[in-house]
Amino acid sequence: MDVKARGPKRSWERFLRTAIVALALCAGSVTASLPSEVMRVDQDPLRWTVNTPHSTYQVFVARNGELVQGYYGPLSDRRAAGAPGPGDPEIISSLREVPYRGGFMNMTPALEVIFADHTRELELRYVGHEVGEQDGYPCLRLDMKDTYYPLSVAEYIRVIPELDVLEKWMVLENTGDEDILMERAYSGSVVLPADAYDLIHFSGDWGREFFPRRTRLTSGLKSIYVRGVRSHQHSPFFFVRPTEDKDENFGTVWFGAVAWVGGWQMDFDVNRFERTQITGGINSWDTHWVLKGKSAFQTPKIVFGVSTDGSNGASRRMHRYLLDHVMPKPFSQQVSKVLYNSWYATGFNVNEKDQIALARIAKEIGVELFVMDDGWFKGRNNDRAGLGDWVADETKFPNGLNPLIREVNDLGMDFGIWVEPEMVNPDSDLYRAHPEWALHTPHRTAHTSRHQLVLNFARDDVKDYTLKWMDELLTKHNIKFIKWDMNRYISEAGWPETDPLGQREVRIRYVQNLYEVLLKLRERHPDVVFECCSGGGGRANPGILALTDQIWTSDNTDPGDRLHIQYGCSYALPAKAMVNWVTDDEWHGKTTSLRFRFHVAMAGNLGVGNDLFKWTDKEKKTAKELIALYKSIRHIIQLGDQYRLRDPFSENRMAVQFVTRDGRESVVFAFQTLETQPMATRGLSLSDRLVLLGLDPEGTYHVEGDIEPQEISGAALMASGVSVPLAGNYSSKVIILRRQP
Ligand code: GLA
Repeated sequence: MDVKARGPKRSWERFLRTAIVALALCAGSVTASLPSEVMRVDQDPLRWTVNTPHSTYQVFVARNGELVQGYYGPLSDRRAAGAPGPGDPEIISSLREVPYRGGFMNMTPALEVIFADHTRELELRYVGHEVGEQDGYPCLRLDMKDTYYPLSVAEYIRVIPELDVLEKWMVLENTGDEDILMERAYSGSVVLPADAYDLIHFSGDWGREFFPRRTRLTSGLKSIYVRGVRSHQHSPFFFVRPTEDKDENFGTVWFGAVAWVGGWQMDFDVNRFERTQITGGINSWDTHWVLKGKSAFQTPKIVFGVSTDGSNGASRRMHRYLLDHVMPKPFSQQVSKVLYNSWYATGFNVNEKDQIALARIAKEIGVELFVMDDGWFKGRNNDRAGLGDWVADETKFPNGLNPLIREVNDLGMDFGIWVEPEMVNPDSDLYRAHPEWALHTPHRTAHTSRHQLVLNFARDDVKDYTLKWMDELLTKHNIKFIKWDMNRYISEAGWPETDPLGQREVRIRYVQNLYEVLLKLRERHPDVVFECCSGGGGRANPGILALTDQIWTSDNTDPGDRLHIQYGCSYALPAKAMVNWVTDDEWHGKTTSLRFRFHVAMAGNLGVGNDLFKWTDKEKKTAKELIALYKSIRHIIQLGDQYRLRDPFSENRMAVQFVTRDGRESVVFAFQTLETQPMATRGLSLSDRLVLLGLDPEGTYHVEGDIEPQEISGAALMASGVSVPLAGNYSSKVIILRRQP
């Protein structure tokens, strides 16, 4: 048995390595030691049962030697000990553990290949397994081989028991000499118990990301997907639950996501036997991979989990999964600094004098990290020019960036900067020197968007160039924060300089190189925080979160809209990863109080983006007080558990509660958007009461903030709740609870 774990030691690096298509054959090998309470192996028939506190997953070997998935759902001894399974090849083909193209086709295939003699059918049979652990967590490897052709498939199932989460990925190995064309290599698949299900997924567009959509899964295929390397339209997170279940806090929810920031696809297929299959991975649209002789391909991970306490429970598991197992340490375990970003204040019109003046005011109100946005580099006076020429513009910064950075540092703040490394403006020195570096297709229009083209990150010279200038930027300046932006969709994804087969690998190689650049920058500059931006939340994905520390949620900072965007986003992202700025911007022309806008932004990772030059002393005082309040509670918000209490899509209220993992401290944000009924006629209706969650029922909590200070037992707070009356359009309250010793 192969017992040596190889590769990076830190778990987020390991996560990343498995997200990168790797060529090392044993890249995911597991160390041997049998965590028998989590993973049970039964013989005759050979069967593996994964038990977590709330879930059971079962795989077995069918009579014809195929690996078949058994039960997957809430913890169940009865089903786990169930029958060895079907022998009928048609039934088997509806339950394959790794669904492939070949034989009867009753599932969406995760694997589709073409062998050198043009055979397109696979016949995979079980040949061995290994139970052990990887990075301290139980990991099962199931080995399969084609019955004739030189293709081996290893499926990995790594278990995070305390979160009821399984990670799946595959390593495909061509043990022969001739090329095998991989037309599709998804990451994994599961089949749910027979029932009728709804899918909750998240879609939208620029400025309205993460809108939850709930749809019935009926017979047939429902796909959500991204074809480029960003998308506001779809998020790879999904929640599936029985159609009749609606409660946020009760009932079974299967949830998960695919961890790939390039083109990905998730398929939800209700097959002819009325069984619901969930599968996904790298999107095979316009993409293939040539698996050369004696080489291997490792898929990114797909994550599946089971919550038995509703969608809130599923979200909390996903948040902890991202914080504890995906996002880079140590930052994922620490609170983020309150940042100021200059974009909405100065636009492209940045210069040393104004930025220093802004920084001084930012410091006054309590900001800890000053970020200069777009406009600082050569020729960048608007969005028509400059991308690609990453040196400070001499007219704006005659002595370079260091005088500004020194001033910011002397004020006691960190300095951060905006970059958009995957892009080039045709009006730039870089493009004039290397027009072939942009993705392009001969005889086709090179479509620009925001006046820019996409650099072909699949090219190693583009990767090396990017790594070099980014490394120099971080080496020559005391920069502690990078806002990495990506502001357009891909078109004409051509690479005419490579061979015809390689042309269709461009979308995968792009992501591999992007990951590599980020990984190397993090290794060389471990004290730099990276924010992932893509015109807002166009790239919120576990794949990129393995390499960045937070997401710029949306360019839409209108507080009313934002409550909806944040609500949707909270299904998947922990509050720490969800960056919110207070701004002057009211997209719909309304005027809300500064306090309301702060409260909205404080229900996540707080930033400020106002034009501080326009602020009165009173506004600065309000901001200073609220930033100080945020600093005293941000550990609860950013690192605690989150409970959605009120849904702004179904009423004019939104409320969210955060609780430290030990249950001692909690914060509640309550918002009213538009008042539908005057307070006088409504009275103190039940809707003013917020029934809280996640507290210690035995404890007594001191409750304070925007209500009368009082002591209430945890049991009462979770049974009858606390009254938080809100009156008037766009009003808000923050309540803080601390358990008495
Ligand atoms: C994108 C980002 C904004 C800002 C601009 C700068 O739109 O989402 O926050 O950085 O680019 O050009």
